[in-house]
Amino acid sequence: MADFIAGQLKDRVRIRPTVYSQFALFSERQVADLLQIAKDSHGDSRDYMGRQVLRAPDAVKSIVAESDVINCLAAEHGLVFRPDNEALLLYYQKSNWVPLHLDDQLEYEFNLLTMLRRVKASETSRTATYFWGADGEFMATDLRVGESVFFHASYTPHGRPPLPEGEEVVLLAVGMGRPRE
Ligand SMILES: [Fe+2]
Repeated sequence: MADFIAGQLKDRVRIRPTVYSQFALFSERQVADLLQIAKDSHGDSRDYMGRQVLRAPDAVKSIVAESDVINCLAAEHGLVFRPDNEALLLYYQKSNWVPLHLDDQLEYEFNLLTMLRRVKASETSRTATYFWGADGEFMATDLRVGESVFFHASYTPHGRPPLPEGEEVVLLAVGMGRPRE
């Protein structure tokens, strides 16, 4: 099924999922500040598609702007983004997950996920965001804190399996859209 969807969309995929190493896009300080804001505002999050989601407070948007990450990604990938973007905090605990899906292509076609907190039940435990790329290429990324993945979220089927007991994931998701025609 995922292969079928990915195959249908492959001509529209502009970039493959691209992983950025620890603190390459957000500094260690910025990641620590983002996590603190995420912890402080966790109580305001709502259950959405299997995990807790919060439209990020202005303090998060300020750090995103300060990092200049959106301009960096646009330049590196030869993309043009609208000035408006979306920042969400995603909280996963035991049994939380997100089913295979595509983001709304009319809103924010591209997405940048940055890991803010990752608690593992054991050193060998793995849990990942997964992607079906064009030509059935499967990719899974178990990001470390401070690592990011940038992907064409409207045309790359993606999801995350349920988290095991004792595990926790907190992500910042920044959505970017192309200019409206
Ligand atoms: Fe998504």
